[in-house]
Amino acid sequence: MSVLRRRVHTAPLEAPPLKVRRQVLSAGGARALVYSNGDADVEPNAFEHWYWREAGKVVGQAKGRGAALVFEEEGRRYVLRHYRRGGLIGKFNPDRYLWRGEAATRPLRELRLTMQLAAAGLPVPFAIGARVLRWGPFYRGDLITAMLADTRTLAQRLDEAEVSLRTWAQIGRCIRRFHDYGLYHADLNAHNILLRGDEEVYLIDFDRCRLRDPGLWRDANLARLYRSLTKLDDAREQRRFDGAQWQCLIAAWQ
Ligand SMILES: Nc1ncnc2c1ncn2[C@@H]1O[C@H](COP(=O)(O)OP(=O)(O)O)[C@@H](O)[C@H]1O
Ligand SMILES: [Mg+2]
Repeated sequence: MSVLRRRVHTAPLEAPPLKVRRQVLSAGGARALVYSNGDADVEPNAFEHWYWREAGKVVGQAKGRGAALVFEEEGRRYVLRHYRRGGLIGKFNPDRYLWRGEAATRPLRELRLTMQLAAAGLPVPFAIGARVLRWGPFYRGDLITAMLADTRTLAQRLDEAEVSLRTWAQIGRCIRRFHDYGLYHADLNAHNILLRGDEEVYLIDFDRCRLRDPGLWRDANLARLYRSLTKLDDAREQRRFDGAQWQCLIAAWQ
């Protein structure tokens, strides 16, 4: 049984090499590392909120831990996200991370992983580029992805109305595909699952995620999602998540 599961996990190794371009610029006392997906360089200023404000191209704000900006360029929409720390540390250090080498930076890791998942045919946003601003022993980070049009988070959908059992099953199947590929999602919750209509399900937000061999982490992933859903349900007036929904999701996942 375990041998069989391992075979499923060999997929990432066979994936085609990822093409990430890298520019190095100096920005004041900092050094900017700008990465882009593919052959085109991303404009370094594209990671600055003011750049899109001044151009009048800001079309929205996405809710999350940090302030994510939605901008429109040549008829397409993108999400620019700044890496922010949560919890207690975030109160006195909102966005600085300790530099432990370029390969260990969150934006570069998330860019590469999102590209890899996309190359494997998994439903994720197209990753455009990332930036790391290094300043002494610290860095700050930003990421740009193409916005998934006409989607809402599972959390938003549940605030509006019930989500059909069929959709819950689709969510279960979607998570299973990621698990079979070996993706451990560090923050699998109702805000990181996007729905388009009742059929299409995407996962987003691969910060701190990684590929792993099969193990109990998959159950821990599901347990985390369950906690997120019950917490949201407790805060809502109408209950829209209970045994039936979860059973549907789990049955499809299995
Ligand atoms: N590519 C995308 N397409 C559509 N919406 C997105 C996309 N990326 C992020 N969002 C929205 O922005 C929110 C925050 O982004 P996320 O990547 O989850 O960052 P974080 O949770 O760290 O703030 C998401 O919950 C989602 O609503
Ligand atoms: Mg998120």
